[in-house]
Amino acid sequence: MGHFEGKTAIVTGGAMGLGGATVERFAAEGANVVIADVNTEAATTLAKQLGGTTIHLPLDVRDPKAWAEVVAETEKRFGTVDILVNNAGVVDTGPFEEWTAERIQRLLDVNLLGVFHGIQAVLPGMKRAGGGSIVNIGSAGALEGFPQMSGYGASKWAVRGFSKIVALELGQYGIRVNSIHPGQFQTPMTSQVTFSTDHVALNRLGQPDEVADVVLFLAGDASRFITGADVSVDGGQTAGNAAYQGVPE
Ligand SMILES: NC(=O)c1ccc[n+]([C@@H]2O[C@H](COP(=O)([O-])OP(=O)(O)OC[C@H]3O[C@@H](n4cnc5c(N)ncnc54)[C@H](O)[C@@H]3O)[C@@H](O)[C@H]2O)c1
Repeated sequence: MGHFEGKTAIVTGGAMGLGGATVERFAAEGANVVIADVNTEAATTLAKQLGGTTIHLPLDVRDPKAWAEVVAETEKRFGTVDILVNNAGVVDTGPFEEWTAERIQRLLDVNLLGVFHGIQAVLPGMKRAGGGSIVNIGSAGALEGFPQMSGYGASKWAVRGFSKIVALELGQYGIRVNSIHPGQFQTPMTSQVTFSTDHVALNRLGQPDEVADVVLFLAGDASRFITGADVSVDGGQTAGNAAYQGVPE
């Protein structure tokens, strides 16, 4: 019997990449899984491939009305939403002087407000049920400053701070809120990026299931006393200044 038998999880952006790996792990552990994604084709394909109680429901995380429909349909099919993984995200990079307010707004709309709408949507059900676990996906870019990432970094630092504040407020209902901060992973989002692992202590890229494993830990009972935490899953990329090789004089 899987660790998540009888539990229901919504994973945004679950059609591919880190979210796809997370959907697969939940499904393997017996959960009912909702792949909530704008990419209907990829999400339907994954849901079919996994079968069982993994389904796709179309969702643009920026749309509170669509969120209400996804949660209502999930509750109708499976009962209460026990777990929400706010993983959907978009990226944009470039020199600070070229950024526009519109580009920053787009990142905030998906990466931050998408998380906000998601938590608001599942909250009444989780309160009724007496608890739940919410996992928000940030970025190593929310733990340190990375050049050319002003808009993306701002949205992810916001998710990290938001997670802590919401954790403080929802603890009284037995609802836990934690954030995960991935380092470098080859996914459709980063297909054009050439990564360097020089400053990664473990000297390699991460595998998507290495994020999924941590999501499942934070979603499940093994982490029942953890809330408001931010967990880096980056092979030590943000542990310190790995470029520094000297001995202090
Ligand atoms: N890949 C990395 O190295 C990396 C590093 C740090 C953080 N992250 C974060 O991890 C998360 C997943 O990243 P990924 O690399 O798997 O990305 P990806 O682009 O490979 O997959 C993202 C998924 O989100 C969906 N999506 C995008 N906008 C959406 C919206 N408005 N509503 C619903 N779904 C939407 C896409 O359709 C896609 O299925 C993101 O939040 C990203 O910022 C990724």
